[in-house]
Amino acid sequence: MPLTTQRAFDPVRFDIPRDFAEDASPEDMRTWLCGLGDRHLDGGPGYFVLTGLQHLDEPGMRAFALAASAALGRLLPQDSGGTLLREVRYRGVRLGEGATGRYSDSRDGGNLHTDSPHRPTAVPDYFALACVHQAAVGGDLVLVRLADVLDRLRGTPDVLRTLRRPVHFDTRDDSPGAPATVVRPVLEQRDGREHIHYLREYIELGHRRPGVPDLDAAQLLAFDALDALVESRDLQYTDRLSKGEMIFIDNRWTLHGRVAFEDREGDDRRLMLRTWITKAESVNG
Ligand SMILES: [Fe+2]
Repeated sequence: MPLTTQRAFDPVRFDIPRDFAEDASPEDMRTWLCGLGDRHLDGGPGYFVLTGLQHLDEPGMRAFALAASAALGRLLPQDSGGTLLREVRYRGVRLGEGATGRYSDSRDGGNLHTDSPHRPTAVPDYFALACVHQAAVGGDLVLVRLADVLDRLRGTPDVLRTLRRPVHFDTRDDSPGAPATVVRPVLEQRDGREHIHYLREYIELGHRRPGVPDLDAAQLLAFDALDALVESRDLQYTDRLSKGEMIFIDNRWTLHGRVAFEDREGDDRRLMLRTWITKAESVNG
């Protein structure tokens, strides 16, 4: 059963010794993080948190976030400029706004999703968020495990079947020559395990593109059923990263969102540093 406290990540919160954070060799970092990844990403629960990094300044946190992420696989660029470490902060937009507005640039809550289902090539297997500053109010992370969702959907095979049909995700990329949509199913079986790709807003935007068929009634019902499940509190694991904490999340079988937040005035507004990581053996594009 999910924890109903706001400290749901405590069972997989690991303190990182100060000298290790600052001086570990790439080999030692890889050995330690791959061990955690094997147990808690590829295994259960699909995420883990490193804590005790608050002594690092922002450049130090950037360097650590890149090194720790690279220890788990290959970093994927997050935009056409090749950004490997993206600042997730409020940029004054709402989800889906304009041609390229993204959830990560908003301060909205809800809308549980997986990261980058609209990427034309490899979808990140893992992603990480390093907390440089937390919001004044809110900003808690909310995680839902695909295994729990599938468990609840076992009684509605029509919904499961519909979620396995390919859909068009809007690529949110209006640069010349870029594809308008990318086609993949919400649920798919790969490597002997279920994977999920979901960000409803991008699916709805994709199906409004010229030449793309409208979503049908069965699809809308299936997304409503999925949304109702991921929004149900008894499937949600909620916790709040503190300054100096970094979470790693398996993007293949974990949905995530956050609680809406309010920033304080001044420089220390909510700032997370995000990486997208692909496991070396699953690089396919
Ligand atoms: Fe996200």
